[in-house]
Amino acid sequence: MLPQSKEYCSFFFFFPLFLACGGTLSGTGEFRSPYYPNPYPHNKVCEWVINQQEGYVVTLNFLSFDVEGGSCRFDFVEVRDGPSPSSPLLGKFCGDEIPPRLQSTQKSMYIQFSTDSSVNNHGFEAAYDSAIEGCGDTLTSPSGTITSPGHPTNYPHGANCTWYISVLPGNLIRLLFDSFNLEYHTNCNYDYLEVYDGTGTTGNKTGRYCGRSVPPSITSADNQMTLLFVTDSSLSGEGFSASYVSINASTGKVCQKTSMFRTQFVKNN
Ligand SMILES: *[C@@H]1O[C@H](CO)[C@@H](O)[C@H](O)[C@H]1NC(C)=O
Ligand SMILES: *[C@@H]1O[C@H](CO)[C@@H](O)[C@H](O)[C@H]1NC(C)=O
Ligand SMILES: *[C@@H]1O[C@H](CO)[C@@H](O)[C@H](O)[C@H]1NC(C)=O
Repeated sequence: MLPQSKEYCSFFFFFPLFLACGGTLSGTGEFRSPYYPNPYPHNKVCEWVINQQEGYVVTLNFLSFDVEGGSCRFDFVEVRDGPSPSSPLLGKFCGDEIPPRLQSTQKSMYIQFSTDSSVNNHGFEAAYDSAIEGCGDTLTSPSGTITSPGHPTNYPHGANCTWYISVLPGNLIRLLFDSFNLEYHTNCNYDYLEVYDGTGTTGNKTGRYCGRSVPPSITSADNQMTLLFVTDSSLSGEGFSASYVSINASTGKVCQKTSMFRTQFVKNN
């Protein structure tokens, strides 16, 4: 038998236990904590899974963030690299600082928002999108390799990839190209690779490169460097492959990581 309508309404109004949250998403969009921007409910676990097409990864940008702080034991947002709660952890966040931009290494990302029985802040709002797999990264090791998506096979059309390299303060970054083949244009208007000093594309541009001539080695002005790779909708080549090393800014010596466990200093000529 159905309850009287009045009881029925109050039942749902006072028991947020039945509130639906989380879901399965794909493509581009936004999602937010329950009742956002109003305070989120207690004792909730919301799970989102974002699935992109094969060959794409998931990017996640928090637009606002206000979750009970502390040690992230009470209320928190957890982001995982894969489709399930047991996938590798990308980060666990609480407090009022906006988390960094996150990116999966494959087509799915799992997000869990968990709250306890006390304190409720305003929650969060996040935007998700897809990016071509192997397109862009944040690199913080003293040395590393960067290749265009799919290298040495032809790069995809419509790519817009950014690599951020950040090494320890007091070091510079030296970038060396191993191979280079991008669609040619006099001003590199179609497909190009740009290299910048600093984080992002607001710093000094070292150069814009395209065609088949391998760019010279590039040394950054400080401990950060940004690479931007853009391709249009036609013609494609095998792309590029580059490696970088950290150089001690005062001695000019290269800190070359030769294996996982051995660090060797070699003279930089
Ligand atoms: C690449 O993507 C960024 C961020 O979405 C955008 O601001 C920029 O205009 C894009 N660049 C090109 C050349 O499409
Ligand atoms: C650079 O080399 C000098 C001399 O070896 C050393 O004292 C300093 O710590 C090095 N700097 C970095 C950032 O490794
Ligand atoms: C850009 O280059 C100019 C000239 O070399 C230099 O004076 C300036 O400090 C550089 N800016 C940044 C942000 O590195």
